[in-house]
Amino acid sequence: MFEQVDKQALANRFGKAAQSYDQYALLQKEVGRNLLSLIPDENYGNGLDLGCGSGFFLPDLQQWCNYLLALDISTGMLKQAALRDNAQGYVCGDAEALPLCSESQDLVFTSLALQWCHDPVQAFREIKRVLTSRGYALFATLSEGSLFELREAWTAVDDHEHINQFMAIPELRSVLQNAELQCKTWQTRRHVMHYADVNAILQSLKQIGASQVNGERSQGLLTRQKLFRLQQAYERYRLPTGLLPVTYNVCYGVLHR
Ligand SMILES: C[S@@+](CC[C@H](N)C(=O)[O-])C[C@H]1O[C@@H](n2cnc3c(N)ncnc32)[C@H](O)[C@@H]1O
Repeated sequence: MFEQVDKQALANRFGKAAQSYDQYALLQKEVGRNLLSLIPDENYGNGLDLGCGSGFFLPDLQQWCNYLLALDISTGMLKQAALRDNAQGYVCGDAEALPLCSESQDLVFTSLALQWCHDPVQAFREIKRVLTSRGYALFATLSEGSLFELREAWTAVDDHEHINQFMAIPELRSVLQNAELQCKTWQTRRHVMHYADVNAILQSLKQIGASQVNGERSQGLLTRQKLFRLQQAYERYRLPTGLLPVTYNVCYGVLHR
């Protein structure tokens, strides 16, 4: 049902992008800040930043938690996060098999990491398992329609799949149901980022480690000719401002057991 994920390749790719991540992660910063604003106003004992990336949100999360754990599948990202020195622990682990005790976390915060999982139900089940009975899990993830301009532009170039599949909202709802998590808050927001040209779009995805699709399929080399066709196809989206839009549909949720 879900795409196979080569987790080592994924971890390496994010690791390679660890140093450039903060400079290019404009959407991720916007989304993470929105997610922070949804944290229920309480004091939390143990907190977890799941898929913490470069640790951009650790300083904020530190304000909410007595003991903050930063977890990511990429050691490269974790090393970058550790430079901030805002968490009490740094753990390399997989969201689908969390190396944490059951009912150990009062706050789980996970921003734009879960869409990389092979089996989202399993990831949400793991979140439920580690959550305390009074705890909250906050997530933000991409849904269907994200990057639609780039997906459509690629269809003019070749038959490969260049963009990951993102869950439709009803599918995400049923994933949460299957994981037996209750939803306290639910929001969907459209974020549109703007770039001068296709090169800047591709570069920004690469520099945050998000340039490849899950799965085994080879996408082939991006030759000059292919790039030209991609640029031509994307032109139909150019705005009167002269910029190219990149749309992201983001689902935000506050969950509890
Ligand atoms: C787009 S970044 C988001 C990072 C950070 N949460 C932020 O908002 O800036 C996605 C992160 O999720 C991590 N990730 C992807 N799949 C994961 C998994 N199965 N378990 C843990 N981390 C994962 C990646 O290594 C990467 O650091």
